[in-house]
Amino acid sequence: MKAAVLQQTHHPLVIEQRELPDVSEGQVLIRLHAAALNRRDYWITQGLYPGIRTGVIQGSDGAGVVEAVGEGVDSDWIGRQVIINPGLEWGENEQFQSEQFHILGMPSDGTFAESICVPASAVFEKPAHLNWHHAAALPLAGVTAFRAVSRAEVKGDSLVLINGIGGGVALLAMQFCMALGARVLVTSSSETKLQRALEMGAAGAYLYCQDDWVKQVLGDHGMVDAIIDGAGGTGYRNLLQLAGPGGRIVNYGATAGPADRVDLFKVFWKQLKLIGSTMGSPADFEQMLLLVREAKIEPIVDSVFSLEDVNLALARLAESTQFGKVVIEINGINS
Ligand SMILES: NC(=O)c1ccc[n+]([C@@H]2O[C@H](COP(=O)([O-])OP(=O)(O)OC[C@H]3O[C@@H](n4cnc5c(N)ncnc54)[C@H](OP(=O)(O)O)[C@@H]3O)[C@@H](O)[C@H]2O)c1
Repeated sequence: MKAAVLQQTHHPLVIEQRELPDVSEGQVLIRLHAAALNRRDYWITQGLYPGIRTGVIQGSDGAGVVEAVGEGVDSDWIGRQVIINPGLEWGENEQFQSEQFHILGMPSDGTFAESICVPASAVFEKPAHLNWHHAAALPLAGVTAFRAVSRAEVKGDSLVLINGIGGGVALLAMQFCMALGARVLVTSSSETKLQRALEMGAAGAYLYCQDDWVKQVLGDHGMVDAIIDGAGGTGYRNLLQLAGPGGRIVNYGATAGPADRVDLFKVFWKQLKLIGSTMGSPADFEQMLLLVREAKIEPIVDSVFSLEDVNLALARLAESTQFGKVVIEINGINS
């Protein structure tokens, strides 16, 4: 089978011919129809990720059809259309992941390939309303966004700010918040992305690179109940200003680097909750799928590349001009 392999950091992924993997006990073999990129895939190519190994097929997100099952797995799975939960070995505790927790695509072989073997416990029925591109775009960003939204205690009457709406996780977080009935404000570095978010139903949109954007939000809407942030950086202190009394700030990433000058006075006086969140448990994944099915949510796909063009897809992510997920089409969509 064809696969995109990390042979060296700071170099393009190499398209290689690999043996079809053997299905072990408790696993399923999936013929992949689509995969999707996450910022993580880019960080890995740049050597900016813990525990990088070379010779590994990259990619965390994938969707396809089960072709074979290993010992102990119900053969009913064969022929079913599935998506993969890329967070493996979460463990028993819903509050946080186990020490064994790892993400498909590093250190284990991932989804930028024609086929993959994964534990049957990581496989979930593809929501019927999603096409292959949408299905592949959902898992990693979806479970991360869902847990972040849950931890932010978003409800029907919440006013939520989502920072950096161009991000894959941020966009799905907006869609989940809206499906729960919340009003959503967004920020971006791009007027075009703000316009797209407004067209999708955002109640307000702000350029985070403008010095007075916080003032603008406060003037238009007042303080917010919850904030979902994957950027951190020097802008993090603005979020403390925007969060209202009892507000929750959930952080799942630090694209803009470490937060600085956190004003603890604001944290304790406003009784804020600063919450960290990473991916999600299998229960989060299942509940995320429930919401996606009920609200007929479709992840936004920015662009689609072939497996051979995986390095162009990574370049698209590196530019940060994308709105939504960058998808890789594999094995032809009708095959
Ligand atoms: N903890 C977890 O489980 C988990 C899971 C997934 C991702 N992550 C991390 O979360 C981050 C986002 O991931 P992703 O896959 O959604 O990334 P992505 O699709 O590549 O999006 C990154 C977005 O960050 C926004 N951004 C950059 N600098 C910003 C700033 N100073 N202030 C506000 N927003 C800023 C940009 O939004 P605009 O284009 O709108 O300006 C950019 O499009 C990454 O750091 C990733 O490693 C963590």
